[in-house]
Parts: sequence; C-alpha cells; structure tokens
Amino acid sequence: MPDAPFALPRYLTSPTAGWTTQADVLVVGSGIAGLTCALRLREHVDRVLLVTKTELSAGSTTWAQGGIAAALAPEDSPEEHLDDTLVAGVGLCDESAVEVLVTEGPARVRELIGLGARFDTDAAGEITLTREGGHHRDRIAHAGGDATGAEISRALIAQLEAVRADPGIEVIEHALVVDLLTTADGAVGGATVHVIGEGEIDGIGAAHARAVVLATGGLGQIYSATTNPPVATGDGMAAALRAGAALADLEFVQFHPTVMHLGEGATGQQPLVSEAVRGEGAVLVDADGEAFMTGLHPMADLAPRDVVARAILERMEATGTDHVYLDARHLGGEFLEQRFPTIVARCRELGIDPATEPIPVAPAQHYASGGVRTDLRGRTNLEGLYACGEVSCTGVHGANRLASNSLLEGLVFAHRIAEDLTRRLGAGELPATPTTVEGGSALLDSRHRRELQRIMTKGVGPLRSAASTEEALEALAGLARLPGDEAEPGPLSWETTNLLHLGQSLATAAHLREETRGGHVRRDHPEHDDAQWSAHLVHVRDPYDGEPAVIRLDVDLAWPEGDEEDDEDPQEGTQ
Ligand code: SIN
Repeated sequence: MPDAPFALPRYLTSPTAGWTTQADVLVVGSGIAGLTCALRLREHVDRVLLVTKTELSAGSTTWAQGGIAAALAPEDSPEEHLDDTLVAGVGLCDESAVEVLVTEGPARVRELIGLGARFDTDAAGEITLTREGGHHRDRIAHAGGDATGAEISRALIAQLEAVRADPGIEVIEHALVVDLLTTADGAVGGATVHVIGEGEIDGIGAAHARAVVLATGGLGQIYSATTNPPVATGDGMAAALRAGAALADLEFVQFHPTVMHLGEGATGQQPLVSEAVRGEGAVLVDADGEAFMTGLHPMADLAPRDVVARAILERMEATGTDHVYLDARHLGGEFLEQRFPTIVARCRELGIDPATEPIPVAPAQHYASGGVRTDLRGRTNLEGLYACGEVSCTGVHGANRLASNSLLEGLVFAHRIAEDLTRRLGAGELPATPTTVEGGSALLDSRHRRELQRIMTKGVGPLRSAASTEEALEALAGLARLPGDEAEPGPLSWETTNLLHLGQSLATAAHLREETRGGHVRRDHPEHDDAQWSAHLVHVRDPYDGEPAVIRLDVDLAWPEGDEEDDEDPQEGTQ
C-alpha cells in the first residue's frame, strides 16, 4: 500500500489577506446543513458569520428532487429506516450514526415544517410519503412534487432574511473559502476567504473564528458529468485535507442510475430524473423495451441505487449502447405533470415528452458518500473544525447512501453541531488564538479542468479496475507536475487545484480497495471481500510535519480518540 501517494501542500498560493473579520463561529456553505446550523447557532452565540461561494441558493440542496426520508408514517419506524440504511451501506455504515439519523430525523423534519417548509400533503392535510430505491416503506416527504430541495432552501433562506439585520449574524455571498487558518498546535481558527465584493470586504481576507463549520457540499465537478451544480468543486473537503483533517470513504462515489442522457460528450451538470419516478411505477427498459431489473433483485427497479446503476451499466455494455430508457408513459401525462413538474418541464425543454416516449437515461455522478470524518457531534480530528452535510463523513452512508437520506443527514447533524458548539463556547472552550498562513503551493490552471474530469471519469468512474485507477493516478500526477507558475491565483485555479488534490486521494483509495462494494465497482474484483475490506480508507496528513497525505486502514468508524462520552449528550435538553 502506498504510504505517501502524493505530495499535498499545506496551503494554496493566494494573495496576502487584505481584510480581516472576527466571529465566534464561521459557517461555510448555505445548503440545508449550513443554513440550519447558522440559524440555530445565532439563537445562542454572539456572532455567527455565514459565507457562501456564490448565492445562498446555489448549492446542491436546491437541486434535490426526491425528498427527505424520515419515519413519519404511523406504520413506519426508525428501526425499519435503520435497517434499510444499513443494507444500502453494504456493511460500512456506523450504526450509531445511523441510529442518530433515524431517531432524531422525524423531530427535525417536523421542526423544519414549523420553520415554514411546505411539504406536499393529502386532502386531510397529512404529509404524502413516497418510496425510493432501497426503502421498504413509503417514507420520502416531498415538496412541489419534485422540487423538495428548492422548497427547503426557500424556507430556510426566508428565515435567514428575517434576521439579516441582526448584528449577531453576518452573511457574505460570493465568498470562496481557500484554506483553513490553523493555530501553532494545529487547531482551526478561521479561514482565508476570497470575496467578490465591494467596499472593505473584497478580495482575499482572513475570517477568524473560535470554530469553523464546513457545510460546503460535494465534489461532483471532479467528473465530466454530474447532477451537482457548478459550485460543487470540493473546496471544503480539500481545504480540510490540506489542514490535516481526516477524510474517509472517498472511493464510495454514488452514480445516480437515472440521469437524463443528453448525448455523447455532454459535460457539467446534467438533469436528474428522480428515483421517485420509479417509486411511482416507472420502469427501466433497454433499447428493445425489455424491463431488465425484473428478476435481477427482489426490489426490481427500486433496488438500492448502486445495484440499479450497475445493472444499467452492464445492460449498456451488453447491448453496445450508451444509455437505457425510463418508461413512465403508463403513469399518464396528467399525473406526471402534477407529481413531477420540474422533470417534465426539463424533459420537454430538451425535446422529450415523458407522457408519450421513454426518457433516455444513464448513470452519472451524484453524491460523495465519504468526506471529512466526524464523530456524532460533527467534530473532526482538528480542534475547532466541524463538518456536516455532503462534505462530511458521519458514518451514516457507508459504501452507498440510501436515497433521500442526505437532506436528513444535513439537518440532523447541523442541529447536533449547533448544540455542541453552544455548550462549548458557553463553557469558554475553543478560545480565539492567533493563526498563521505560510507559503503556498503550485496551482493547476483551470484550462486543465476538463482533462482532469476526463481522467477521473475514465479511470475512477462507475466501473474501475487496477489498470484504470493506476492510469488515472499517473495522469493526475502528470497534471500535478505541470509548472505551477502558469496559473494565476484566483477562484478558477483554486477550484481546479482542489479537484486535483481530491482526485488524487479518491483515485488512490479506489486503487487500493480491491473489491466491489456499494458505489465502488472493481471489474477485476467483482465481489465483496468482507475478510479484507470490512474497513475504511482514511486520508490524513500530519498537520505539523508536512507533505504527504497518508492513506491508512481503519477497522471501523469509531472515533479514534475515544472521547465520544466525555461530554454531555449534545441533544440533552433540546427536544
Ligand atoms: C432522487 O430524487 O432520485 C435523488 C434523491 C437523492 O439523491 O437522495
């Protein structure tokens, strides 16, 4: 196993900070996790600073279609939700994290409704619940039919706007976090932030804080085709890795089975066709009209996402095509328009009418199941650094996230972080201490981004092998060797360099894991290997001594310091 697979700089090259600001907590990101955490913290903490890369609503939350999973129905239970989540995670979930998710989830969803999120209801006013892949119950709450994330985002941003004049919370948009600021002993005390703004806060600055909460979302733009919006360039994950935070499970990338196929060479954000369409009865068929999921898995078209994506890829290979079809015609035009208005409108814009013709679909990158490793309170291994939402690895998803568990995870763990920080800051923990930024690294020019995405898609995409991952690692090393002085410091080169650092980590883990499990599919090792691989690959670098990122194997996700019980339960007294 390579102990030092690639050199990882501590900082990206950036201009000297031209402004500074100070907060108790810096929250980075404005999806469900960041907004929930910031809104909750401002009730108890003197000064919260929320920064977001472009506009408040630009992240992945807004694009979530299917919904938010929670055991809300009387016939459902957290135990059943737990069982489905563990099965989807193929042996690598941290059961205690899943237990937190499923038991606290229903209360958090009801609070979200209390904050103004309008979920779809039946004539009696009860939330209508639907089913998605891997769920044995109808437990997905949705809004606006297939616009669940947009409605949650709207409701939370409305809450934020209502308190925006409050001096206890400041919001800075168009603010890209470049690196984390660390103290002499490696604790996190803020971040360098690049703001496209005006007045005093413009360009690179230093945002000092007693704690930083990363809620920066995923890394979908590391691949050529993804359902993620353009902002998903893994900035938070990469900054955390450079600062010495442990990242886990990066190789478990989720490829959504039904992303609209726009033809060869389509790149960037692609239109999702929610799993809820299959939940309502749509069926996957090949070019001959054969419903190929029937008989492949007891749940057929509603098997867990990794199973369906793999079946599609195999069918595409067997039939020599680059897509299959999702047939929803039998659901009828009226039902489709009312239940899936966003999808139907997008399909029609692109010249397909789902009421009269099957939708061409193929798997594309959708979700990073791994990320910055946290404990049940959202703490990372670096003092003062927290993570929640897609940027994090709480242990909830294991090798494959269960459908519609991501919004729930962001919601539940954002609350836990706010509770933990409220208590710690109130007790005088995490004092503000001086931080430093020293030196910088070569940057990868953004004109290499497409090439990087091509390398990742070919070598570390939905189907992998020792040869493909090795080829990817060599090609990425070639990009890393390009002369650094060709790239000017700026948002595009910082993002591209973040993608390179994460690409090298992800490809290394995908190369090492010689088995197939969940979102990680190795053609040369097509089966699970529980004897050798019931374990996590953790990426970490020593914050003090330097260069290499080290990959090591952990037997489970239990927090290594064993300090889980040293504080009160963060939920105590909050229900
Ligand atoms: C979908 O609507 O199919 C996506 C939901 C999810 O990613 O959980």
